[in-house]
Amino acid sequence: MDLLRFVLVQSGSISANMAHSLFQSEWVGDNRKVKHMTKNSPQTTVNSIMVRPDGPLIAKGNIEVQDADGQLMARGEDIALCRCGASKNKPFCDGSHKESGFQDHAQFTDERAEDIQSDGPLVIQCRENSMLLAKGPMQIVSRDGKSSTTRNKAALCRCGHSANKPFCDATHKQFGFKSE
Ligand code: FES
Repeated sequence: MDLLRFVLVQSGSISANMAHSLFQSEWVGDNRKVKHMTKNSPQTTVNSIMVRPDGPLIAKGNIEVQDADGQLMARGEDIALCRCGASKNKPFCDGSHKESGFQDHAQFTDERAEDIQSDGPLVIQCRENSMLLAKGPMQIVSRDGKSSTTRNKAALCRCGHSANKPFCDATHKQFGFKSE
C-alpha cells in the first residue's frame, strides 16, 4: 500500500495530501467492516439464532433447513425450530414446549466462538435422532442479549436434554431421542 502511494505521488497522479486522505479513508472503512463482523458483536447483520427461554430456537436471516439426507425442508427468513424434543412437527416448533414443561434459562457461554467473515446463507441440517447441525456465518444470542457468540458451524441441541444448551453435548444418545 505504501509503495502504491509513493508511486502515485511521485508520478504526479495525486498530491501527498490526497494520498493521505485516500489511504486513510480506505483503512477506516476496512476497520469498520471488521468491527461489525467479529465475534460477539451485537451489531452484526448476519444470520442469527435466538435462544428463547423455555422455548424454541428462532433462526433469522438467509436460512435453509435440510433433512438428514440434505433434502430441502424449508427456506426462509424467520423459522422457529424445536429444541425441547416434544414437537410433533420436528424440526419445527409447534408450541409443545409449553405442555412438556421444558425449562431452560437460555443463558450460555461459548469457548468455541469464531470470527465470522461473510454474510452467506445458514444451512441447518437435521441429523437423524440427533442434533441440528448449523453451517454458515451466524450469531447465536439469548433473547435478552446477555449471552452471545458467533460461529461458522454449531451443533445445536434439539432433544432438550443437553447440559450445555443451546449446544449439543451428545446426551441425546443417553435419552434415546427420536427425531421422527
Ligand atoms: S440433540 Fe440434545 S444433546 Fe444432542
